[in-house]
Amino acid sequence: MGKKKNSRCRVQYLLCRVQCLFKTQHCNSLGMFLFTFHFRCPKQLLGSASVSRIPGAGAAQRRSRPGSGGAGPVPVSVPVSVSPGGRFDCGPERLLARADCEARGCCYIPGPGPRSGPGPPWCFFPRGYRSYRAENLTATESGFSARLRRVAAAFLPAAVDTVRLDLALETPARLRFTLRDAARQRYEVPLATPRVQGRAPRTLYGLQVSQDPFGLVVCRQRGGTVLLNTTVAPLIFTDQFLQISTSLPSQFISGLGEHLTPLFLDTAWSRVTLWNRDMAPAPHVNLYGSHPFYLVMEDDGSAHGVFLLNSNAMDVLLQPSPALTWRTTGGILDFYIFLGPDPKSVVRQYLDVVGFPFMPPYWGLGFHLCRWGYSSTDITRQVVANMTAARFPLDVQWNDLDYADAKRDFTFNKKGFRDYPEMVRDFHSRGLRYIMIVDAGISSSGPPGTYKPYDEGLKRGVFIRNATGQPLIGKVWPGPTAFPDFTNPRTHEWWHDMVKDFHEQVPFDGMWLDMNEPSNFVEGSQDGCPNNNLEHPPYVPGVFGGRLQAGTICASSQQYLSSHYNLHSLYGLTEAMASHSALLRVRGKRPFIISRSTFAGHGRYAGHWTGDVGSDWEQLYYSIPEVLLFNLFGVPLVGADICGFAGSTSEELCVRWTQLGAFYPFMRNHNDHGTRPQEPYSFSPAAQAAMRSALHLRYSLLPFLYTLFHRAHSAGETVARPLFLEFPTDPNTWAVDRQLLWGGGLLVTPVLEAGQTKVRGYFPAGTWYSLAGVSAPDSTIHSKGQWILLPAPLDTINVHARAGHILPLQVSPLTAQSRSKAMALVVALTPDGFARGDLFWDDGDSWETFERGDYTEILFLASNDAVLSQLLRASPHLDGILLEAVTVLGVTSPPRRVLANGAIVSDFSYRSDTQVLRVPVSLPMWEQFVISWS
Ligand code: NOJ
Repeated sequence: MGKKKNSRCRVQYLLCRVQCLFKTQHCNSLGMFLFTFHFRCPKQLLGSASVSRIPGAGAAQRRSRPGSGGAGPVPVSVPVSVSPGGRFDCGPERLLARADCEARGCCYIPGPGPRSGPGPPWCFFPRGYRSYRAENLTATESGFSARLRRVAAAFLPAAVDTVRLDLALETPARLRFTLRDAARQRYEVPLATPRVQGRAPRTLYGLQVSQDPFGLVVCRQRGGTVLLNTTVAPLIFTDQFLQISTSLPSQFISGLGEHLTPLFLDTAWSRVTLWNRDMAPAPHVNLYGSHPFYLVMEDDGSAHGVFLLNSNAMDVLLQPSPALTWRTTGGILDFYIFLGPDPKSVVRQYLDVVGFPFMPPYWGLGFHLCRWGYSSTDITRQVVANMTAARFPLDVQWNDLDYADAKRDFTFNKKGFRDYPEMVRDFHSRGLRYIMIVDAGISSSGPPGTYKPYDEGLKRGVFIRNATGQPLIGKVWPGPTAFPDFTNPRTHEWWHDMVKDFHEQVPFDGMWLDMNEPSNFVEGSQDGCPNNNLEHPPYVPGVFGGRLQAGTICASSQQYLSSHYNLHSLYGLTEAMASHSALLRVRGKRPFIISRSTFAGHGRYAGHWTGDVGSDWEQLYYSIPEVLLFNLFGVPLVGADICGFAGSTSEELCVRWTQLGAFYPFMRNHNDHGTRPQEPYSFSPAAQAAMRSALHLRYSLLPFLYTLFHRAHSAGETVARPLFLEFPTDPNTWAVDRQLLWGGGLLVTPVLEAGQTKVRGYFPAGTWYSLAGVSAPDSTIHSKGQWILLPAPLDTINVHARAGHILPLQVSPLTAQSRSKAMALVVALTPDGFARGDLFWDDGDSWETFERGDYTEILFLASNDAVLSQLLRASPHLDGILLEAVTVLGVTSPPRRVLANGAIVSDFSYRSDTQVLRVPVSLPMWEQFVISWS
């Protein structure tokens, strides 16, 4: 035991009974945890003005009983080892004056900056502040457990005296630990996560537990990098305030949606609030979804991720040391740590827990058109006719609230929309699909017998209840509304019945779930909210509006599984689950659902659009990190409203937005009512031509995009991908969020500013072939890992194929229906002549084709001056589809002879300035082929 007492400084070196629980595991750099230094505030560092008091700290604190408040304050002065960037706020719920601060045993150092707002807190925990002591560390079948006994006086109400820690070594790259009240069952997120038995062998992680004060350290076995270290600040576990902090190994942290943010978050004292909210996207506010998952890039290009499975209103604080603090207002602390070690693996490991994304129907990847204000079927039909006349591809036509009778779900207005069912059938007969909006709130104001969804809902008891047990009534578009409780299985049945009834009248193809945070135009309810601790918790995270009820329903309203306080941020997810199963039962095909509100795991059931983005250039940029982040969250089917939703767009913005939008996995142009029209045909011929060519580019790439969705669905991959996922060891890529990749093979570099005809993009080391300009001699980029200025006239979006990839394309597509047309391949060779790619193909619409094995999968390989296909699995779905063209990029010497399956191809072409070989062929895609050149 290293115990040393210096009575002047009163520094206590407390032996921390560290247990290296698993003998083979150690964190190389963690020798320091053999001793936990218990510091008090230093007079010498604080200057004469600062004296800190630490009641109950050190030996005195050891004697104190939980809740006793410890010994009385003792003025002391000791060295503080806490740098300003490493201070953890000791007054989370309010600003503390010096006396109050010191009464908590914390250090008080007034700073130059403001007391509130971003910056080091003035009142902060000293190092080694004791809150819980770990006892009874016991090995379990899956890891170990311990009891954490509270040893500090509580400064927030209802402190939990004994917390149970369970840690499971679930897989070699994943561990889970939970902190629960040992004495009382608390709310836990009802998300099905994998059940794991036994303990994973040969883990990538090492673990250490500091017993007193309690803390957990997770490090990499290789290299010893500390990924999580909760000893940096005390654990706080009270009924409505749970806090845990950790150091971070780098400041490159991404995730924690949904926010309008760059791809990597700001660690210079920023606060990220999670509490789903109807809110036009703006920086620094909580938005529609909650994804308490982050990914950190470590210095050597390794990555790890952390997921806190908790649905309560929370803040996550980031600070420069760098470190992170989770502050949540309920539930339990249920953490998953993913060791990667590369960022792609981190994402997959996260999706192993929350679920892989659903497989969208092929038509869902086409172009969608919508606006609020298509006020009749005539107008909606005209829009479709205009699109056809202007030769724009369109797969899915949408209607906003305009179709509904008095804005009520599952009704249609018999004036403008009297031939609504016929309109939808007409669309079907032309190969179009149709989607309409469905709001969360159910109109509650009509007399009984006039509105079935409400009458039936009342009868079946499906609505969220207020304090008196009656349906809580708020106000949304139709006026007074009740809110279905989608945590109740009865509600799922009722919802299915409503979907079915309506579908029997109007054969819609998908659902657009809106206002499902849930949004409410009155605060809480028409009758306000009760005055209780759920409505007014001791700690209110930084939610927009300042109160939990702002823009939504009362936190203390009751749902089937728990209070809305706990379940609020799950509203959109649970509605998406209900809609997914209803649509599947009603249509018998793959459900297509786009929802505004989301939570972790949403991607299994639905996609997401990014809400009411403004028609401006800044929002155009922000849409890239939003789309990329949702891919990290396992919701790859995501896009922003192309040309912007709120406010009027401009022609230039709309062209640029359509070009970028052609590379959103979900591509929809949607517009607010009362603003300038922004359908592609509403613009000048030149603008239309630019948009048409972007749309055609997307449509030609649909086989590639569909295959990427298959990889997401079957293997937990991303579709739209940040560069750092592919190039983690190139730190220049980490913060790139003005470009995006599709899969690993296609790099998109859009123009995001007005008046620009050039754009700078980062090209990681390697060869990149321009897709748009394969005929221009200088269009190929051989990068050493460089920023490159590209020409980008208004009619062009820069898209580059990455050497080493083969992209399957459709020839001259017009709609997603042209999937039965011929295909082509773009083969982007590496300098040593290698490339590979694949194609997943099924009927595009049926449920679980992959799971049932009803699909074709082809591997394409290029090497040694040949490209061949290999059928990994065959099905009749490709029958009749021919391969018509193969374009090989990077053929360095002119071929004299080209063979397709051994037969001479006489009409190939080759340009030595561009090094492009074009081979026209006519080969059955459903059979293996070899094309060679020499
Ligand atoms: C809000 C949605 O975000 C927007 O897309 C929609 O047009 C309006 N509600 C009206 O339904």
